[in-house]
Amino acid sequence: MSEELRRALEDELADRRSAVLAPVVERLSARYREGGAASTPILRTAADASAYAAYRMPATWAALRHVLGEAAAQRPGLAPRTLLDVGGGTGAALWAAVETWPGLSALTVFEQAEQASALGARLARSAEHPALRSARWVRGVLGPTTTLPEADVATLSYVLGELAEPLRDKVIDEMHRVADTVVVVEPGTPGGYRRVLAARDRLIAAGRSVAAPCPHEAACPIAGADWCHFAARVSRTSLHRQVKSGTLGHEDEKFSYVVATRAAGPHAGSRVLRHPLRRKGMVQLRVCAGDGELRDRVVSKRDPDAYRAARDVEWGDPWP
Ligand SMILES: C[S@@+](CC[C@H](N)C(=O)[O-])C[C@H]1O[C@@H](n2cnc3c(N)ncnc32)[C@H](O)[C@@H]1O
Repeated sequence: MSEELRRALEDELADRRSAVLAPVVERLSARYREGGAASTPILRTAADASAYAAYRMPATWAALRHVLGEAAAQRPGLAPRTLLDVGGGTGAALWAAVETWPGLSALTVFEQAEQASALGARLARSAEHPALRSARWVRGVLGPTTTLPEADVATLSYVLGELAEPLRDKVIDEMHRVADTVVVVEPGTPGGYRRVLAARDRLIAAGRSVAAPCPHEAACPIAGADWCHFAARVSRTSLHRQVKSGTLGHEDEKFSYVVATRAAGPHAGSRVLRHPLRRKGMVQLRVCAGDGELRDRVVSKRDPDAYRAARDVEWGDPWP
């Protein structure tokens, strides 16, 4: 998490005692683990918003920073000025977005939860980036006839799972209508992956190109009990450790995602789908290849250039 966001969170939450937040965190974690559409907002009270910001925002920020970073790497010509964060909660995506694209000048969050919006707006106002300071929070409930404001990039992170199934397609269609680049992030679980896959299929059927993670627009080759997901390292703040009663200094946030652009663009050659297996003199990579197939590539010292590259490559990176 950026130092600026870490400080903003610490200041925001300084008066909230971890003993008060811990049971709220417990309740929210159980609700998110259980999954399923939410018929009423999950983040209702000021304590809910604080607990969410304390234990989830660093993780959703890390996932988004990775995802937007991959989008920017794959589409270096993207220079978005406007961003719409749908179901933006406390606004993690905004912080990740201005770090990825400092040229952003207008940020809008569409969100139903008043307390999460209020907290997110307070955090954003403390930022240095002018677009964050002037971010606009629009209160609204996503429904079958919702119209969203236009934007260069629209993000939907950790929201699809809270929507009733028929509404998911409508929201994806509306994001497709209003934004050049559509970004969907879900938890890195089989269910999150299936929701991302449904969104991906829909965006491709509408004529879009996948910027990341897939190096193709063909059917996803992952089958059976497996699911496509990635991980981002999250450094825990002391507050995070207190509310989650954990001792480790970090955790890995697992997520599934898709970035789809209206304009066609180049694909990564392949995408690394697992932690590379590194053995003496060789690296084994499981990749999703540009022809839409899964491959296990063994790179050995006998190919020194490839081997050097393979030693540095990480889960989630493009290859070569
Ligand atoms: C798990 S939070 C994710 C927040 C934020 N996007 C993030 O990544 O940290 C889900 C958010 O979606 C919002 N949400 C869920 N259903 C919604 C709906 N029908 N209309 C508007 N917002 C909704 C919730 O209020 C909540 O803030």
